[in-house]
Amino acid sequence: MRTVLITGATSGIGQQLATDYAKEGWLVVACGRNASRLEALKASHPGISTLCFDVTQYEAVAAAFATLSNVPDLWIFSAGDCEYIDNGRIDSELCQRVMAVNFFGVVHCLQAAQDYLKSGNHVAVISSVASVVPLPRSEAYGASKAALDYFLSALRLDWHEKHIDLSLISPGFVDTPLTQKNTFAMPMCISVQAASKAIQVALAKRKSRIFFPRLFTGMLRFIGLLPHDTQQWIVRRLTRT
Ligand SMILES: NC(=O)c1ccc[n+]([C@@H]2O[C@H](COP(=O)([O-])OP(=O)(O)OC[C@H]3O[C@@H](n4cnc5c(N)ncnc54)[C@H](OP(=O)(O)O)[C@@H]3O)[C@@H](O)[C@H]2O)c1
Repeated sequence: MRTVLITGATSGIGQQLATDYAKEGWLVVACGRNASRLEALKASHPGISTLCFDVTQYEAVAAAFATLSNVPDLWIFSAGDCEYIDNGRIDSELCQRVMAVNFFGVVHCLQAAQDYLKSGNHVAVISSVASVVPLPRSEAYGASKAALDYFLSALRLDWHEKHIDLSLISPGFVDTPLTQKNTFAMPMCISVQAASKAIQVALAKRKSRIFFPRLFTGMLRFIGLLPHDTQQWIVRRLTRT
């Protein structure tokens, strides 16, 4: 039986992936920091076990992974958070909080997993299409995801000989508690069920870069190819309220 480990499994995309993989007969190790939500998830399906830790604490991540009885075939690092910069006022503590979860949280998971990974294993990290084109108020969030993109792409080069597949998942807007806080329009926002399906299909093909929904992420990727000043002009016009 195949095993998948998922961080951020107590909400949104991670939670949907956990229940969908469990329904497909995978053993699921659902990871989160909220013990009661993890208990509810475990009770919802017999194939789900849980690990409770905060991804910003390396020692806690390493201790949790050390308890794994078998090495997961697939590791999906979905835990993440979003905070916006308001009125262009730089807030370094906000930036550090966002980097601690979105960038260092993933680095901690990769570091803690690296000694268990073997040839044929598959690691997937949820980034965001926000890393492709700079967006207003996204200085911290976009930078954390752009850092992940670079880190994963460089790591893919270094892990090439190990035959461990690395997938970088870059969604557009998905309807989850993370985006339900947003007060601005979210074009082409898709359901969490559709996001989970898109991720499962692409991961089964072991794709290295995964973008969805196709039209929205395709438009942003096209804008990202344009000259810098043109990109900024388009983004200013598109995001003007
Ligand atoms: N929704 C979107 O439109 C969208 C688009 C692009 C990329 N993404 C990315 O997709 C991933 C999942 O987002 P989502 O929309 O599913 O958000 P979500 O519903 O808010 O879920 C985020 C998950 O991450 C967990 N988490 C946050 N900080 C953590 C920490 N320090 N330690 C351990 N777990 C922590 C949360 O746990 P708690 O329940 O304890 O808070 C929750 O389970 C994130 O990386 C996000 O950046 C989302």
